[in-house]
Amino acid sequence: MTKVAIIGTGPCGLSMLRAFEQAEKKGEKIPEIVAFDKQNDWGGLWNYSWRTGSDEYGDPIPNSMYRYLWSNGPKECLEFADYSFDEHFGKPIPSFPPREVLYDYIIGRVKKGNSKNKVRFNTTVNSVVYDGKNFEITSHDKKNNKHTKENFDYLIVSSGHFSVPYIPEYQGMSSFPGRIMHSHDFRDAEEFRGKNVIVLGSSYSAEDVALQCHKYGANTVTIGYRHNPMGFKWPNGVKEVFHLDRLEGNKAIFKDGYEQEADAIILCSGYLHHFPFLTEDQKLKTRNRLYPPKLYKGVVWQDNHKLLYLGMQDQFHTFNMFDCQAWFARDVVMGKIKMPNKTEIEKDINKWVAMEEKLENPDQMIDFQTEYTKELHDLSDYPKIDFELIRKHFKEWEHHKVEDIMTYRNKSFSSPVTGSVAPVHHTPWASAMDDSLKVFLDQSKK
Ligand SMILES: Cc1cc2nc3c(=O)[nH]c(=O)nc-3n(C[C@H](O)[C@H](O)[C@H](O)COP(=O)(O)OP(=O)(O)OC[C@H]3O[C@@H](n4cnc5c(N)ncnc54)[C@H](O)[C@@H]3O)c2cc1C
Ligand SMILES: NC(=O)c1ccc[n+]([C@@H]2O[C@H](COP(=O)([O-])OP(=O)(O)OC[C@H]3O[C@@H](n4cnc5c(N)ncnc54)[C@H](OP(=O)(O)O)[C@@H]3O)[C@@H](O)[C@H]2O)c1
Repeated sequence: MTKVAIIGTGPCGLSMLRAFEQAEKKGEKIPEIVAFDKQNDWGGLWNYSWRTGSDEYGDPIPNSMYRYLWSNGPKECLEFADYSFDEHFGKPIPSFPPREVLYDYIIGRVKKGNSKNKVRFNTTVNSVVYDGKNFEITSHDKKNNKHTKENFDYLIVSSGHFSVPYIPEYQGMSSFPGRIMHSHDFRDAEEFRGKNVIVLGSSYSAEDVALQCHKYGANTVTIGYRHNPMGFKWPNGVKEVFHLDRLEGNKAIFKDGYEQEADAIILCSGYLHHFPFLTEDQKLKTRNRLYPPKLYKGVVWQDNHKLLYLGMQDQFHTFNMFDCQAWFARDVVMGKIKMPNKTEIEKDINKWVAMEEKLENPDQMIDFQTEYTKELHDLSDYPKIDFELIRKHFKEWEHHKVEDIMTYRNKSFSSPVTGSVAPVHHTPWASAMDDSLKVFLDQSKK
């Protein structure tokens, strides 16, 4: 029997488990599946951990989540085609849920099936060696301190790429008297109440960490961008300036001459695609981009079609794109999708990479990833979902952010699965301090 290993049970790994389960439900004979996760439960980043640094066994913490994180895109854009928000919550809910609510939704879908018995938790994959036929996987069951070697026919890498921080150094850091940390270790904005905070970066983490610190009472937040500013209309107390030059004592000095005394520096400088368990010839080496090279249809490793990666792209689309990838991966593994010849594969990859390199603005990037996801969708039996509506929602959302970065999370969108329109949340995001599932879902507060 074909044996498949899945590394990671975050949203991508869960999509993979779900894809196989759906085929089994239709009466198809599925391969033997073993999923590994180094955490004690599934959900990946959404399985919030208060820990930073190392876990109780000394393994690096994969989690980059923090308290008070709310979805940064409309939930309608990531909705599962085969499991709507309405089905999970029994009623329409607002468009920008906090972490605990999204976690509940992601887990709700897989909890209904029998996939959990395929997962080995607290088990880290330490090495994978491919001998031309099989993948020999060495894993460590941390709880029982047991090392195991096992052979698999296929390997699905769904270990995420927002867990290993990229940490640059700036002059003066070693003598800075305050706190220096990466967004990977950011857990609670409350600790910066009354402080002067410097945030470095110009992408989603920089935007959200800056706004969180402001929302929970930081005195000032100064964002230092390196290439392009985010350029939003920031609230009073938040400022965006050009690139940090150096630190002198507790003073941050920026390249445009701006100076700010600081209590903390938060590096929102992104993450590394990091696969320490893979040999060099199997490793995806890329920066965070919409179409990493060497992956056919963004999934199948060009040099070895038994090695598949999920979710390695920079992401506008998330959960339903991961589903489309997983359904496609399943059909490759089960032989229902035949891989084309080497030349066609290369041509297809080059076509997407060349298109990606020409993209100039967020609208074009949204179009690009929507086209990619639609193409994948057409290749499998993943249920119908309105990607044109999702494309429209993403563009509207981008414009809402430009209009007002403090209010875009108060807007409502319609479902690409059920068509229902989200209710307006009972409390505007900027004043909603309690992000618990209970309070979020309590519409009587309206
Ligand atoms: C701070 C933050 C906020 C985000 N917010 C949003 C949002 O609001 N909306 C949205 O759609 N997306 C958001 N994202 C994007 C995020 O990438 C996806 O939502 C999603 O979590 C990606 O799923 P994944 O399965 O690829 O990776 P992950 O969620 O990272 O899961 C990977 C899993 O692999 C396991 N693993 C890794 N290495 C090994 C190993 N060697 N052995 C065994 N197990 C291993 C990890 O323990 C983990 O459980 C956010 C990302 C970050 C960092
Ligand atoms: N739900 C939420 O609210 C939320 C919150 C946080 C994160 N997220 C998600 O988390 C994922 C990761 O986002 P991310 O922002 O961490 O990573 P990212 O999108 O890869 O962005 C990395 C940023 O780091 C900057 N950078 C790199 N090196 C730098 C240096 N030496 N000095 C200053 N800046 C530097 C880059 O700037 P250049 O452009 O100059 O290279 C870029 O702005 C995304 O999917 C995002 O959606 C979601």
